[in-house]
Order: sequence, then C-alpha cells, then structure tokens
Amino acid sequence: MDLRRVTKIFGDRSDMALAMLNSGASKMEVQQKTGQVVGLNDVSLSVERGEIFVVMGLSGSGKSTLIRHVNRLIDPTSGEVLVNGHDVLKMSLDELRAYRRSEVAMVFQNFGLLPHRTVIDNVAYGLEVRGAEKGERLETAARWIETVGLGGYEKSRPHELSGGQQQRVGLARALAMDTGILLMDEAFSALDPLIRSGMQEQLLDLQNKLHKTIFFITHDFNEAIKIGDRIAVLNDGELVQTGTPEDIIFNPADSYVSDFVRDVNRARVIRVGAIMDRNQLAPCQAEVQENSSCEDVLPLFARHDWIGVVNDKGKRVGSVSAKQVIGALGAHHKLLD
Ligand SMILES: Nc1ncnc2c1ncn2[C@@H]1O[C@H](COP(=O)(O)OP(=O)(O)OP(=O)(O)O)[C@@H](O)[C@H]1O
Ligand SMILES: [Mg+2]
Repeated sequence: MDLRRVTKIFGDRSDMALAMLNSGASKMEVQQKTGQVVGLNDVSLSVERGEIFVVMGLSGSGKSTLIRHVNRLIDPTSGEVLVNGHDVLKMSLDELRAYRRSEVAMVFQNFGLLPHRTVIDNVAYGLEVRGAEKGERLETAARWIETVGLGGYEKSRPHELSGGQQQRVGLARALAMDTGILLMDEAFSALDPLIRSGMQEQLLDLQNKLHKTIFFITHDFNEAIKIGDRIAVLNDGELVQTGTPEDIIFNPADSYVSDFVRDVNRARVIRVGAIMDRNQLAPCQAEVQENSSCEDVLPLFARHDWIGVVNDKGKRVGSVSAKQVIGALGAHHKLLD
C-alpha cells in the first residue's frame, strides 16, 4: 500500500491553499490567510504486505483523514493512493464498491455496531452485503465470534455487552470479511486500560496466524510501540518520522517525537534483537528470542554474562550482554542533557 505525496485541504478554495503550501507556507499561515484547513500536507508512506503499520499523533494531527484515504472515504486534494496494485482514485463506482467489500475492512473507534441486530447478525452484516448465502455467512460469523472469545453471546444485542465485548464484535465483523487489509482507527482508544491491553494482545496473537496488512491509528505512543512493526508520527498534517519502534525511541526526529518517547517504559519496549551483537555467536547457557524485551532478559544476567539470541526459527543470530541492555535503557539521558 502506497500513499504518494498526499495533501488534503478542507474547504472550497483549496487551489489557493495548495499554492501557498507548495511555496512553503505552514498549516497555520494557510488557515489564517485563506480559512482553509490543511488536513494532510505532502504525506508519503509505504506499508508492506503483512506488517502492522501504526500512525501516531496528537488529536487533530490528521490521523483519521489519512486512514480514510485508503478506502476512499476521503479524496485527496493532490497525490496518489495505490493499494494492491490499483490506483484507488481511478476506480469506477462499481470497482470501488467491490474493493471495499473484498480488499479492505475497517474497525471503528466507537464500534459502529447496528444496535437492533444481534451479535451474530452484526458480524455477518458485511458478508450479507457482499451477497453470501445465509448458512455460509452465519457459519463464518460464528467462527469469528468464537475466535475473538465471544462464544455464547451470538444472540445478544450490542447494548447488552461491555465496551470491550462490543469492540470484539467490531473486530470479528472486520475479520469475517477476510480482506488482506485491516484499517483500525483508534479501535481500542475507548476501552479501559486492562481491557485495552488484552485487545492489543489478542490482535497480536491473531496477526501471528493471519498475517494481514494492518493500518492502525492511535494517539497513544505506548500502544504504537507495543503493536507496531513500524510507526509513522504525524504532526499538524505532516509526517515527521517513520521507523521501527527502536528507531524512534533511539533517534526521535524532533522535540514533538521526543516528548512521546520520554514517557515510555524502555525496558518493556526495547527488544534484544535491536541491540544485540550479531558477531557474538559463541555458545551460551541461556538463550532468548530476538523479540524478547530488555525487561524479560534482565533477571538472566544475575547468572550469565552473555545471553544467546535466537530468531523465531530457533536459529542463533547474536548475543546480548548486561552492558548493552543497561546502555540501551539509559540512552535517553543523551536526549535530556
Ligand atoms: N470534514 C472536515 N472539514 C473540515 N476540516 C476537517 C474535516 N475533517 C477533519 N478536518 C480537520 O483536519 C485536521 C485533521 O483532523 P483528523 O480528524 O484527521 O485528526 P485526528 O488526528 O484523527 O484527530 P483525533 O485524534 O481527535 O481523532 C483537523 O485540523 C480537523 O479540524
Ligand atoms: Mg481521528
């Protein structure tokens, strides 16, 4: 999925605003002089198949505007949106309809369930729109309800469920569509911290099996680093940094990004694979996976000087020492002085 130089200006005099932006004016200047609101300014990003790509930014930074370009709920003022080899902006109405039914599914922040329908009918809804016959859609819906842990609630209505359960219905509905791409706009933001953390873990577990391309929006940096393979940071409609969680934690591009980074529990988010020594392959008594966190390995240093690191296939790929781990945990002092 590629967004190329996407600019979105809200208002009826976008030409004038676009010309100002192109000559280097800021979002604020454009708004003051023309009354037009810059939603996105020259945003380019590329999402790889099978990754969880997170877009993070404060309220009003343009996150919803960005994700809505992917399923063309919004047309850009300029730029291109390319998904699975199609130019989304050149689709006819029929092509767009087919694209929305079979290639992208969306999970909304406020769940977006149909209040008078039961859980199973909500989950089956997209399949019904797509024209699947009743037996097939109910069977598929029941399977996804079971997968998200809501077995037994098929006949309940949304108002009889907790927020976390309702969002599981929203997730099951999107997953039932069996699309390669899942769009999630602040899907977990309305949930209590514990429920939210459970949903994040469930999404990661599901992703290990499903390998979808997930475009995930959040304003919570901790959520971004927990679930993102890569993260893009938006500020005032502009992308200020794109990278892995560690790229962003170790090298925040500017003070906007380092303000987010400061509050992060580094021990929990920095993975040993990002800091290990790849040349140290001598046998070690203890071994951990490369996606283990520093927090996970710290206790092992009570008994070992070096810990071997293996990849998900069990192949040895490097080693970490206590010195490396402690160095990574303390690195933010560089940012502070
Ligand atoms: N339909 C619209 N008409 C005019 N301006 C809009 C419209 N939609 C969004 N905007 C403006 O575009 C900017 C980005 O809004 P957007 O909703 O994308 O932000 P967001 O990052 O999703 O924020 P939040 O975290 O609050 O959901 C804001 O300045 C907003 O006022
Ligand atoms: Mg939003």
